[in-house]
Amino acid sequence: MTTVSAPGKVYLFGEHAVVYGEPAIPCAIDRRATVTADLREDDHIRVRAADLTLDGFTVEYAGSVGGQPDVAVPEELVDAAMGYIDAAVAAVRSAVEDPQLGFDLTVTSELPLGAGLGSSAAVVVATIDAASRACGAPLDRRRLAQLAYEAEAAVQGGNASRADTFASTMGGAVRVEGDQTQMLAAPQLPFVVGYDGGAGETGALVAAVRALCETHPPAARVIETIGRVVSEGEQLLAAAPHDDPPSESLLTELGGLMDINHGLLAALGVSGQSLEAMVWAAREAGAVGAKLTGAGGAGCIVSLDPTPETTRALRYTPACVEVFRAELDTDGARVEPR
Ligand code: MEV
Repeated sequence: MTTVSAPGKVYLFGEHAVVYGEPAIPCAIDRRATVTADLREDDHIRVRAADLTLDGFTVEYAGSVGGQPDVAVPEELVDAAMGYIDAAVAAVRSAVEDPQLGFDLTVTSELPLGAGLGSSAAVVVATIDAASRACGAPLDRRRLAQLAYEAEAAVQGGNASRADTFASTMGGAVRVEGDQTQMLAAPQLPFVVGYDGGAGETGALVAAVRALCETHPPAARVIETIGRVVSEGEQLLAAAPHDDPPSESLLTELGGLMDINHGLLAALGVSGQSLEAMVWAAREAGAVGAKLTGAGGAGCIVSLDPTPETTRALRYTPACVEVFRAELDTDGARVEPR
């Protein structure tokens, strides 16, 4: 039996544009998905998943996703979660060249599905790492990140960047630009996350942005401009001393860029009413910057505020069902004690 956990993430800058080869800076946060893997004697996969949404589900199937789980959560979210787990198992079978491998997998997660916190990447990374270890073939981190990226891209019909899976594997703040991935030095930023209780469908949102860029050339300029915002943010981080806490001027400058990044994402049509309500509640409460995180539509915003004001304001914002402080998690995927 092997248990591995992997962190979720928020995007400081650059979601969507990263799909077109622009740079992005996602940051792993201290909320995780955890997967326990046991090798089975047959080729079945049995998945027990608690906490992926409000209720848990259990499904057993042979070879590929087929069984209909008995659940009280939106079917598309369950199908999506099962699709990611299925792709992760396929990656392990192919990495160890044994298509007959079967696993009992128990998945728990502190990350709501499809809410912009990288839940699917965290589940994929933790599943691949735990399952490969369970069959005695641990992977090094770069290979783990590569396989997780390929699995996520397969589920999302090729519409995926390396950002979520690389951040979840390595931890900390990372920079992703096309196939180039690197870890960044970054101070502990005072993230406040607001969650509207909803979810956006990454594949559909990425496809909608692609369609917009094809029909409206100015949208493609918006993507390039997001890339410039990310580069400026990266320069700010590189120039800043990485002491704790970060200076007020660094926060103000990063926050200003987050606001611009959010406006550009809204121009691409991936914001939503509840995300806007939370972004504005955070700004009015004194957050130095606020933006949606991840694919958008619904889900989470991330803001920067070292004071308790944004947390307090979001608690009283009707659109927000949960608010929490998130810390940069530098651990990445890690084996958990039994
Ligand atoms: C989803 O968390 C982020 C997107 O940029 C898609 C991707 O990078 O794969 C929208």
